[in-house]
Amino acid sequence: MGRLQGKVALITGTGGGQGRVAALRFAREGAIVVGCDTNEDENRITADLLAQQGFVLHGYAPVDLGDHEQARAWIESAIAEHGKIDILYNNASAARFAPVQDMTIEDWHFTIRNEVDLLFYTTKYAWNHLAEQKGVIINVSSTAAWGGSKIAGISAHSAAKGAVVSFTRQLAVEGAPVGIRAVSLSPGFIATPGTAAFLENPVARAALLDGVLMDRPGEPEEVVSMAVFVASSEASFITGSDIVIDGGLLAI
Ligand SMILES: NC(=O)c1ccc[n+]([C@@H]2O[C@H](COP(=O)([O-])OP(=O)(O)OC[C@H]3O[C@@H](n4cnc5c(N)ncnc54)[C@H](O)[C@@H]3O)[C@@H](O)[C@H]2O)c1
Repeated sequence: MGRLQGKVALITGTGGGQGRVAALRFAREGAIVVGCDTNEDENRITADLLAQQGFVLHGYAPVDLGDHEQARAWIESAIAEHGKIDILYNNASAARFAPVQDMTIEDWHFTIRNEVDLLFYTTKYAWNHLAEQKGVIINVSSTAAWGGSKIAGISAHSAAKGAVVSFTRQLAVEGAPVGIRAVSLSPGFIATPGTAAFLENPVARAALLDGVLMDRPGEPEEVVSMAVFVASSEASFITGSDIVIDGGLLAI
């Protein structure tokens, strides 16, 4: 029996690197996985990978969670199909990078919309359903919430990911009386299809791994393993925390 047997898990960004791995792993742990992504083609590839292993990726794409009506429709369709929500894993995000003086107003708002607003929308619409199940919210932040970067203009991204941590803390406060736990995860640099180009460039790779004690990028599985633990009853006394998964980057 899986660690998430029978749980309905809503995972956002199932067309992306970590979301795809999460969909596969949560299904293997016995969860009923409901995914979504703006990218229909990549989400279909995830659905095919699950099907090859005998699982179903529920949900649909495209869904733009930065549009609150689309977020609400996705949550409501999950309820219509499965009748409950046990886990909301807010993984999806998109950011734009530039030195602060060159960051356009549009790029700033794009980043806040796709890294913060979407979490609020899914959380707002899933909240009462999560309360019924004494469910769990997992929000994906980043080490960008905890430290700056010399090599990339991450002001909007770090502001957004900092907001993910503090938003999660408040969700824990409001959630405790109704039995909802809320936890944020802060990955360091993770090897995904989206970051592959940086890792293939030796200069970029060295810069990105500078300060990482383990001297390698993390794997999506290493973040998702923590998400499985947090989503499971093994983490029943953990709420309001941010858990860093960074190969030691923040240790120095
Ligand atoms: N890869 C890293 O090094 C790293 C490091 C720290 C934190 N993170 C965080 O981990 C999470 C997963 O990142 P990833 O590496 O898998 O990135 P990714 O870009 O591969 O996947 C993110 C997915 O979210 C989807 N998405 C973006 N905006 C959306 C929206 N408005 N509505 C619906 N779907 C949307 C994208 O289409 C994409 O498929 C993100 O929150 C990211 O910020 C990643």
